[in-house]
Amino acid sequence: MNHINLGIIGAGIIAHNHVEAAINTPGVKLLCIADIVSQKAESLAEKYNIKPYTNNREMLDNESLDAVIITLPVFLHCESVVEAANRGLHILVEKPMASTVEECNLMISEAKKNNVKLMVGHIQRYISSNMRAFEMIQEGTLGGLIMINERRYYNYFNDRRPAWCLKKETAGGGVIMNLGAHSIDKVLYMSQSRIKKVHGKVGFFATGTDVEGNGQLLLEMENGVSAVTTHYGYSKVAEYTTEYIFHDGIIKTTTNNIITIQAGDKRYDEELLKIDPFKLQLEDFIKSIEEDKTPAISGEYGLEVIQAITSVY
Ligand SMILES: NC(=O)c1ccc[n+]([C@@H]2O[C@H](COP(=O)([O-])OP(=O)(O)OC[C@H]3O[C@@H](n4cnc5c(N)ncnc54)[C@H](O)[C@@H]3O)[C@@H](O)[C@H]2O)c1
Repeated sequence: MNHINLGIIGAGIIAHNHVEAAINTPGVKLLCIADIVSQKAESLAEKYNIKPYTNNREMLDNESLDAVIITLPVFLHCESVVEAANRGLHILVEKPMASTVEECNLMISEAKKNNVKLMVGHIQRYISSNMRAFEMIQEGTLGGLIMINERRYYNYFNDRRPAWCLKKETAGGGVIMNLGAHSIDKVLYMSQSRIKKVHGKVGFFATGTDVEGNGQLLLEMENGVSAVTTHYGYSKVAEYTTEYIFHDGIIKTTTNNIITIQAGDKRYDEELLKIDPFKLQLEDFIKSIEEDKTPAISGEYGLEVIQAITSVY
């Protein structure tokens, strides 16, 4: 295969990041994008000289694609993955994988049946600060990892939040399904372990919505690492902090490219190079196709995240 012919399904908020990544990734030829809102597909298509569609199926019928990126609302992930798999297309689907364990299992089995790659867009491992923290965990610079502590405070119910995110039926859940999925991904990846037990509590204190606006998870990993993650979606001031606590120190991440390291009695900041995480993610997806290997973030991995989330609802 000279290059991968790629299409994108869904031209909303996160599609912009995927389009930009695809345009800048060697070995990828982005051909087209579909959205039921024609103006959304058209504006991206015009900017990047690709073909717009208002109907996914028409796009898949007309174009000669090898792979698709699915950036649709969560309730459409399963049916669109199944459709793409049955057409023999490799798939990168945005997180969270789907609303239910049953849907995830169907997506996995359809991808296997059709011998196509299925990767879930859990982006955390491609973010500079997380990459540096992971490197230090692997090197054992601060001894063994013991605990992870994450706080995410934000105004989840802001005016820019797409309407489908505020309904259980279309989003599968609120802050834990949407952003807790990132936290669980981080804990799974950083601990390099599997979830042994999850305890969780979610709260519903926002009006005009049936999704949770706050929640806490306590994750116990098979290798002994534990993690607490707090999501507070009613905050007017944002905070996003993750602490990795080791035998001999602490790593704290706040933004994409700054990391604070506490080693012994010293504490210092490291400023990291900003790298586009979506490009790294796409490169991994493409590599799994070219080398015919299991994607870095498999359907089974995406399923484990959904099992943890749905177990606390
Ligand atoms: N990786 C990340 O950091 C990250 C960030 C934001 C969103 N996401 C995920 O990306 C996905 C999309 O989120 P978003 O924020 O871009 O939402 P969005 O609402 O902005 O985009 C979804 C798009 O899908 C379109 N759409 C709906 N039904 C369609 C259909 N039948 N056919 C074609 N298009 C259709 C909508 O018109 C909309 O433009 C979700 O799974 C979300 O969790 C991931």
